[in-house]
Amino acid sequence: MPAGTEEEKQRAAIAAAALVEDGMTVGLGTGSTVAYLLPALAARDLSLRCVATSPQTEWAALQLGLRVEPFTVAHLDIAIDGADQISPEGWLVKGAGAAHTREKLVAATAERFVVIADSTKPVRALHPPIPLELLAFGLESTLARLGTVQRRGVPISPDGGVIADFIGEFSDPADLARRLESTPGMVDHGLFPPDMVSIIFVAQGQSVERRDVSPR
Ligand code: A5P
Repeated sequence: MPAGTEEEKQRAAIAAAALVEDGMTVGLGTGSTVAYLLPALAARDLSLRCVATSPQTEWAALQLGLRVEPFTVAHLDIAIDGADQISPEGWLVKGAGAAHTREKLVAATAERFVVIADSTKPVRALHPPIPLELLAFGLESTLARLGTVQRRGVPISPDGGVIADFIGEFSDPADLARRLESTPGMVDHGLFPPDMVSIIFVAQGQSVERRDVSPR
């Protein structure tokens, strides 16, 4: 099976869906790997209350009969989502689909945040681009202060944010995360720290490796 196949995404998604129990509140991520999670969850025929991180996920989940509610709770039992890059320490880059702000908020709300990935996602070291969501107000000022940033040619986020990518080189994700967070005009960035990540499932061919990163 070639790396990064649809089968790998599906295997990782099924492994994560198996962690979900009847009665749970579930955060649903966004992207092509989560597209396999939704039918895997629906097939389990559990009574779940879900929160979606994007209109696309909400629509797809509803089509499958999952119950999706507005995000009005302060606690979720579990959230499951894909990633663009996974470092050996458990840092993630997310946001290729521009949903990272909502994804981070949902992940932070969940007791356990579970990442599902095919074998192309683990990297030796994180690298640019790092997705950003910026406030539309004062955008030129924010872009100028960030420097090595490119606006992405995609629509504004459902929350009105402008999507861009940090394209500068970096060696320490924690340093970069601090710098981005201290930039006025930043809504949120796509770096997720290891202490936010509970479990990572990476599919490699026929097998799925489980890594427990930061049990909460
Ligand atoms: C959405 O904005 C992203 O954070 C996705 O979760 C991430 O890009 C992984 O997407 P795929 O599962 O499509 O690779």
